[in-house]
Amino acid sequence: MNETAEVPPDRRRVFFALWPDDATRSAISRATRGAVQACSGRPIAKDRLHLTVAFLGNVAPARVELARSVAPIQVGAFDLTLDAVGVWPESRILWFAPMAPPDALGELEATLWDRLVEHGFHAAERIYRPHVTLARRARPIEEEVAPVVWPVRDLALVESFTDGRNVHYEVLERWPL
Ligand code: 2AM
Repeated sequence: MNETAEVPPDRRRVFFALWPDDATRSAISRATRGAVQACSGRPIAKDRLHLTVAFLGNVAPARVELARSVAPIQVGAFDLTLDAVGVWPESRILWFAPMAPPDALGELEATLWDRLVEHGFHAAERIYRPHVTLARRARPIEEEVAPVVWPVRDLALVESFTDGRNVHYEVLERWPL
């Protein structure tokens, strides 16, 4: 599904994500400035940076309430070290990711999907590759990036709105981990 693809009028596009605090947002932005410039892509605005845990897609409005009901999921607060940067050639996304994702993140993602499936959602078929998207339409880069330690304290349910060209996110709710 394309990021800027229209959401049908009777649907809402939602996903669970880790939503950075302001200090982490600034640290990610600072650490990756050079990589973003080097890839010549379309940068993601600082206030939209996030890491998706479970993408639900375009769902009927009633299912948003169902999605809310699967949280909280209390795996405990954890630190996430973002220390790898790269470009996926298929999607041309410039990403910032943990080289070794912490067990708590894997547990969070797996538990979330278990509960979502119990509530009638369809689990994503692709392998989960946790990442923060930094830019789209990126060219390959050789850049290295200083690591950023993100103190992860909560899980967010986020809605994505699009007017065809621009994407805008709204955090619907957050639950402590
Ligand atoms: P991306 O940045 O790598 O495209 C909102 O679109 C968020 O959900 C983005 O972080 C996006 O990841 C993620 N996402 C995960 N699976 C997706 C899918 N099938 N289609 C669109 N976005 C998806």
